[in-house]
Amino acid sequence: MPHSVTPSIEQDSLKIAILGAAGGIGQSLSLLLKAQLQYQLKESNRSVTHIHLALYDVNQEAINGVTADLSHIDTPISVSSHSPAGGIENCLHNASIVVIPAGVPRKPGMTRDDLFNVNAGIISQLGDSIAECCDLSKVFVLVISNPVNSLVPVMVSNILKNHPQSRNSGIERRIMGVTKLDIVRASTFLREINIESGLTPRVNSMPDVPVIGGHSGETIIPLFSQSNFLSRLNEDQLKYLIHRVQYGGDEVVKAKNGKGSATLSMAHAGYKCVVQFVSLLLGNIDQIHGTYYVPLKDANNFPIAPGADQLLPLVDGAGYFAIPLTITTKGVSYVDYDTVNRMNDMERNEMLPVCVSQLKKNIDKGLEFVASRSVST
Ligand code: NAD
Ligand code: LMR
Repeated sequence: MPHSVTPSIEQDSLKIAILGAAGGIGQSLSLLLKAQLQYQLKESNRSVTHIHLALYDVNQEAINGVTADLSHIDTPISVSSHSPAGGIENCLHNASIVVIPAGVPRKPGMTRDDLFNVNAGIISQLGDSIAECCDLSKVFVLVISNPVNSLVPVMVSNILKNHPQSRNSGIERRIMGVTKLDIVRASTFLREINIESGLTPRVNSMPDVPVIGGHSGETIIPLFSQSNFLSRLNEDQLKYLIHRVQYGGDEVVKAKNGKGSATLSMAHAGYKCVVQFVSLLLGNIDQIHGTYYVPLKDANNFPIAPGADQLLPLVDGAGYFAIPLTITTKGVSYVDYDTVNRMNDMERNEMLPVCVSQLKKNIDKGLEFVASRSVST
C-alpha cells in the first residue's frame, strides 16, 4: 500500500505525480508546489477542491521521509508517498500532470549525453507505467531528466510504438521536455551584465529572452536579439552571454564538485512550468504560452499543430525542437515558428545550423534506443 500521510484524498482532486521526488530537484520542486499551489486553487471556479501531490521514488525510505516532512506544511495540498513496494500505479492513477526528474545527474567532466544509457532505461520504464496507468487522452508529461534532447524522443516514441492504447490519444501533443532553466538563466545573466555595465537602471525587473533549440551546449539558442531589454551590448559581451547560457549547467556542476547538478534553480524553473499547467487544468487560464521541447510531428507523421509545418523546413526537418508554443488542455495547439523567422543573421546562419545538426544526432540516439528495445510489457 502507498504510504499516505493525508487521511483522505478525494475524488475531486487535481493530481500531480512527481517521479524521482526524493532527489535534489524532486524535493525542492515538491516543496515549492506544496507551499504555493493553494493560490491557484483559490482562483479556480471549477469543481476541483483539492490538489494532490503524489510523490514517487525508487528510494523508499527517502520518499517516505520527504513526504512526512512536507505533510507538516500548513497548506491544504495533499501529499502521498509511493515507491516500487506499493506500486507506481497508485501514484500515477488519475494523475493529470506527471513531472519526471528521475535519473542520475552529471558529475564534473561528464556531458549530459553520458547520462543517456542509465536515464534512457529509467525514462522508458516510467513511460511504460504512464501508458498503463494514466489516461493518455488527458495526461501531461513534463520530462526534466537529462539528456532532454534524447529522452523526450525516448518517452514519445516508446509510448507510441509499444502501447496500442496511445493510438489516437494525442499523447504526443502533451509530452514536453522542460528547457525553462535556460530561459531563467538567460534572463538572469542578461540583467546582471546590463547592470554591471551600467546599461540599465531597471534593476527591479527581469528581461524576457526567448531560448529555443534543445537543452545542451550549442543546441541551446538564446535569442538576445528578441529580448525586451534591448541591449547595447558589444559583440564580446554578447558572445560571453550566449556561452554562459549554453554552458550554465556546467557552472553549477563544477561548483557542486561531484555533488550533482542544478537542483534549486531547476526546481524554481520547474515550478514556473507546473503552476501554468495547474492554472490551465483548473480553468484559471484558457491557454499556456510557453517554450517546451516537443515533437514537431504527430503519431501519423503530420505536423503536430499549426505552425509546425512552417517550422520544419526552417530547422531542416529536425523531429523535435524547443520553441514557444500555445498549449490548451488538449496539448500543443500552435507552434510559434515566427520566432525562428525573426532571428538575426548571426543566430540564423551560425547558431541554428550547429544546433540542428547536433540535435538531430541526439534525437536519433533516442529513437534508435526505442527501436532496439524489446518490451516486456
Ligand atoms: P538526484 O540524484 O538528486 O535525484 C534523482 C532521483 O531519481 C533520486 O531520488 C533517485 O532515487 C530517483 N530515481 C532513480 N531512478 C528512478 C526511477 N526509476 N523511478 C523513480 N525515481 C528514480 O538528481 P537531480 O539533481 O534531482 O537530477 C535529476 C535529473 O534531472 C538528472 O538527470 C539531471 O541531469 C536532470 N536535470 C535536468 C535539468 C533540466 O533543465 N531539464 C536541470 C537540472 C537537472
Ligand atoms: C542544467 O542545465 O543545469 C541541467 O541540465 C543539469 C546539467 O547537467 O547541467
